[in-house]
Amino acid sequence: MKRIGVLTSGGDSPGMNAAIRAVVRKAIYHDVEVYGIYQGYAGLISGQIKKLEIGDVGDIIHRGGTMLYTARCLEFKTEEGRKQGIEQLNKLGIEGLVVIGGDGSYRGAQKLTELGFPCVGVPGTIDNDIPGTDFTIGFDTALNTVIDAIDKIRDTATSHERTYVIEVMGRHAGDLALWAGLAGGAETILIPEVDHDMNEVVAKLNRGHERGKKHSIIVVAEGVGSGVEIGKKIQETTNFETRVSVLGHIQRGGSPTATDRVLASRLGARAVELLLDGKGGRAVGIQQNQLVDHDIMEILDRKHTVDEKMYNLSQELSI
Ligand code: F6P
Repeated sequence: MKRIGVLTSGGDSPGMNAAIRAVVRKAIYHDVEVYGIYQGYAGLISGQIKKLEIGDVGDIIHRGGTMLYTARCLEFKTEEGRKQGIEQLNKLGIEGLVVIGGDGSYRGAQKLTELGFPCVGVPGTIDNDIPGTDFTIGFDTALNTVIDAIDKIRDTATSHERTYVIEVMGRHAGDLALWAGLAGGAETILIPEVDHDMNEVVAKLNRGHERGKKHSIIVVAEGVGSGVEIGKKIQETTNFETRVSVLGHIQRGGSPTATDRVLASRLGARAVELLLDGKGGRAVGIQQNQLVDHDIMEILDRKHTVDEKMYNLSQELSI
């Protein structure tokens, strides 16, 4: 392979730039040309493609977002859209593609591979919900952003003796809420993977109050439901003064942590190695601190699960 492409797709995540940098530099190190595809699969279809040199990825390792921009592209869900994308790649003599993103992006990469165009997926999402890897690029940074917010909210919750509901991202996955709740000392953590009983949430708050607890933190993943609604219910049933903070997109931005930069560098470089070894249709990951790769189809067939032991621990520590 003498020429490869790289794109970012779906929701951005801090560390995507570090991954792009690793792809570009690793490829150039092996005398392979790299083309950046802008605006994800939408840019692939419309041909927003530009050759990247070493200097183009200078000064980005510490920046959040993605220098290649990103998009969620409906057109790419059609076979016609994908064929147009392949035509654009063929026109420039690009022979393989690194796709950095979450499960939707992986689906596109799988479909392209099926059409004979080799792709390798690199897990980039703050949700940490890609099977076959212990961590996704951006999760650690988002987690630290959430922890910073919880710590600050805790200060004011203590001063005002209030209950706080903090809604974090995660439509289908509770990892961010679980890790943040555990690290932030939350009294209650609500995640989409585990059913909850509002009566039990309220009973726990009441038990804490009876023990002399004056403030509480409840972390809710957005997939469970609206934090505002949950806050209202709590205020009504307990009569404790309750406030709600929806953290929103601040969780997706910011300078990536060292952990995310290193992870992104390792995974990006590994993806290039796979393409150069002639292996398409793979998804790279990290498991027990070792780089791994799996059949991308197998990853798409698997369902992400939260760490049950960690969830149980969070319950034990927040009695
Ligand atoms: O998948 C990443 C994520 O940030 C989810 O946690 C969240 O539900 C979603 O993207 C938000 O997407 P958008 O930025 O398109 O509103």
